[in-house]
Amino acid sequence: MNPSQLTPLTARQGGAVRGRARVPGDKSISHRALILGALTVGETTIAGLLEGDDVLHTAAAMWALGARVERSGDGTWRIYGVGVGGFIQPGRALDFGNSGTGCRLAIGAVAGAPVTATFDGDDSLRTRPMRRVLDPLEKMGARVLQVAEGGRLPLTLQGAANPIPIVYEPPVASAQLKSAVLLAGLAAPGETTIIEAEATRDHTERMLKHFGAKISSKPHGEHGRRIVLQGQPELEPANVLVPADPSSAAFPLVAALITPGSELVLEAVMTNPLRTGLLTTLREMGATIEALDKRDDGGEEVADLRVVASALKGVDVPPERAPSMIDEYPVLAVAASLAEGTTRMRGLKELRVKESDRLAATVDMMRANGVTVEIEGDDLIVHGKGRPTGGGEVKTHMDHRIAMSALVLGLATENPVRIDDSAFIATSFPGFVELMRSIGADLT
Ligand code: S3P
Repeated sequence: MNPSQLTPLTARQGGAVRGRARVPGDKSISHRALILGALTVGETTIAGLLEGDDVLHTAAAMWALGARVERSGDGTWRIYGVGVGGFIQPGRALDFGNSGTGCRLAIGAVAGAPVTATFDGDDSLRTRPMRRVLDPLEKMGARVLQVAEGGRLPLTLQGAANPIPIVYEPPVASAQLKSAVLLAGLAAPGETTIIEAEATRDHTERMLKHFGAKISSKPHGEHGRRIVLQGQPELEPANVLVPADPSSAAFPLVAALITPGSELVLEAVMTNPLRTGLLTTLREMGATIEALDKRDDGGEEVADLRVVASALKGVDVPPERAPSMIDEYPVLAVAASLAEGTTRMRGLKELRVKESDRLAATVDMMRANGVTVEIEGDDLIVHGKGRPTGGGEVKTHMDHRIAMSALVLGLATENPVRIDDSAFIATSFPGFVELMRSIGADLT
C-alpha cells in the first residue's frame, strides 16, 4: 500500500463517554442474509443490513452469481434469489476485499452449484488459509482447479453438479467452516452432518431454519454441537431483521468501561449466547453491564446494554470461551491493560489467522503504549497497571479490529495513541468515528 494513501487517526483522553448509540448491523448475519437470499427463489427483504465494505463485496458476488440485489433504502435491501444450485457462471473473479467470512461462505455456496468461479481478495485476505474449507468441499464433490501456494487466494473452484452429503468434524472451531459445509450441503441429497467439538456462532443454522430448511442442532460432548441439515429443501423467501453487531458494540462498550465517569446505553445489541463471551468476561472482571429490555428480534435475542465506568480486575479466560468472543480479544486486552492485576487469555491460536496475525498485532499495540504483555504458547497475558502511558503509534496491518481497539486504548492512556491507517474500520463499522465522537470520544 502507498503510505501517502494512509489515513492516520489519533485518540486522546477527553471527558467521559455518555449517551445512547446504536452500532451498525451484525456482520455475520448480514453476509448470511445476502447468501441465503441468493439461494432462495423469490424476494427476500433485509432490514438493517451492515453496509460495510465486507458485506458490500458479498452483495456484489451474489449479483455476479445471478441474484438480483437492490438497495431500497438505508440498510434495506431486496434480493431476488436464483435458488439452490441455480447460480450462473460469473463473468470475472469474485472479489471479497478484506472479508474471510464472505469469501469462505460463498466458496461453500458455489461448491454446491454446477458453476466454476474464481475467488480473490485484498492483500490481507490473500494471506488467509482457505484449505480448511476446501478439504471438506472436495469430499462433497467440488474440484479445486487452481489455488495459490499454501492453500491461499486466488483460487478457482468447480462446484459439484451432484454434491455428496458428508459427516464432518471440523478440525478447528470455525463458524465459517461449518457454514461453508452447510451451504454446500443444501444442494446435496440426504443429510449433511457437522459435529463440532466447540460450539461456534449458530447464525447459519438459525437463518436456514428461518428460510424453511429442516435443520437440527443438539448438544454434543461438553462444549460441542451435532448439526444435521436435510439437503435439497424448498427454501422460502423470508424477511431478515439484522440486529446490532455485538462485536462492534464491544468498542464503545469498553471505551465507557475504562473512561472515568462514563455511562452509555448501546441499543438493540444481539445477545446470542454464542457471541457474548466478552460480556461474561468483562462482568467477571467487575464491569457493570446491564442487559435491559431483553427481547427477541427476528430470531435473535437482543437487549439494550447499559454500561458504566468500572474498576476492573485481571481474570483467567478459559480456552473454551474463545469461539464466543473470538473477535473481541484485542479490545479485551485493552480493558485488561487498565485492570488491576494480570489477565490470561487462553487458547488463542485462531487469532493468528484473522485479518492480521491478531495475536502479534495486539502484543505490538500494547507494547507500543507501555503495557507489559507476554505470549506463552497460545495464551496472551496482559499485566494491568491502572493507566498505561500510551504515546505510541500502532500499525493496523489492514485489520479493522486492531485499528478500533487501539483508538479505544488511546481514550484512556496518559498520552494520545495514533494509528497508521483508519481506512479498514469501514469494513465492519462504517460511521465508527462519528458514533464515537457523538458519545464524547476525542478522535482526530
Ligand atoms: C465469523 C466467524 C469467525 C469470526 C468472523 C465471523 C462468521 O471466524 O472471526 O469475524 O461470521 O462466521 P472463524 O470461522 O474463522 O472463527
